[in-house]
Amino acid sequence: MYPALVYLNGDYLPPEKAQVSAFDRGFVFADGVYEVIPVYGRRLFRLPQHLARLDNSLGGIRLANPLSAQQWQALCARLIDATDSDDQSIYLQVTRGPAPRDHAFPAATKPTVFAYAQPLKYPAAEQLASGVAAISVTDIRWSRCDIKAIALLPNVLLRQQATEQGAAEAILVRDGNVTEGSASNIFLVVNGTLVTPPKGPYILPGVTRDLIVELAHAHGVACVERDVRKSELAGATELMLSSSTKELLPITRLDGQAVGNGRPGPLHARLHALYQDYKRDFRAGKVG
Ligand code: PDD
Repeated sequence: MYPALVYLNGDYLPPEKAQVSAFDRGFVFADGVYEVIPVYGRRLFRLPQHLARLDNSLGGIRLANPLSAQQWQALCARLIDATDSDDQSIYLQVTRGPAPRDHAFPAATKPTVFAYAQPLKYPAAEQLASGVAAISVTDIRWSRCDIKAIALLPNVLLRQQATEQGAAEAILVRDGNVTEGSASNIFLVVNGTLVTPPKGPYILPGVTRDLIVELAHAHGVACVERDVRKSELAGATELMLSSSTKELLPITRLDGQAVGNGRPGPLHARLHALYQDYKRDFRAGKVG
C-alpha cells in the first residue's frame, strides 16, 4: 500500500502527484542513497546514527547533503504526524537529480529528495516464535557495501532466490567470509559467544547491529566482532538477523538444515528482551 503523503523536493503531496523526471540519475543510473529509520511512539529511533550514516553514504557518492539535520528532523516529523500509527518506518532517498545522461557527474545538480512514512510492519509473531529459514549464497555485490546505495539489484536478486526457496533471507558469503544478509546484518552464537562480522567495505554498518552489540556489552553478554567463515555457520548454536524493520529475528533453518536444535535460542531471547526494554525506555523518553 502506498502512503497517503510523500515528501518530494520541498512539497508534501499525495503519491500520485509526486513526479520525478525520467532523466533523474536515480532512475537512469541508480545514482543515489537512502535510509530507513524506525519510529516508536512517534519518536525517531536512533536519528543521529541514521543521519550520520546518510552523511557517510552521501560522502561515498560525493554528493553534498541537501538538508541540515534540523531540516531532516522537521521533514520526518511532518510525515510522522500525517501517518496513522504510533510505530512507523521512514524511508528517505537522495539522488543526484535530473540531468542529460552522461556517466560523469553533471556540472550543476539539484538533488532529488524523496521521503515517506508508513506504519511499521513488525515480523509475524510466528517468525519470532519459531524463527525463519535462510539460504547461503555468494555475495555478488560491489566493494562499497558500506554505502547505503539505492543500487540494490544484487540484493534484490539474492533475496528473490531465497524467497523462491521458501526462505526469508539470503546470507551472503564473499571469499569464504560471511558478510551480511540481503537486507540485514548477521549474528551467530559460537561456543556461547555472540559473533558478528566486523564493519568494513563489504557490509552496511547496521544501526540495529550497533545497538545489539552495545546492549550485549552493557549487559555482560560475551560479544565479538570478527571475520566469520562460512564453515562456522553449520556449527553455530544460534543464528540471527538484524535490521531496523525486523529488529532481531532468529534464523532456525539454514540451507535446509536445522540451526542448533532448530528452535530460537537463549541468546536470542536475552537480546530480544534487552532490545524491547530499550525501546520501552525510548518510548518513555528515558533514552535518546
Ligand atoms: N535495510 N545490511 C543491508 C544490506 C541492509 O539493507 C540493511 C537494512 C541492514 C541493516 O541495517 P539497519 O539495522 O540500519 O536497518 C544491513 C533496510 C531496512 C532496507 O533496505 O529496507
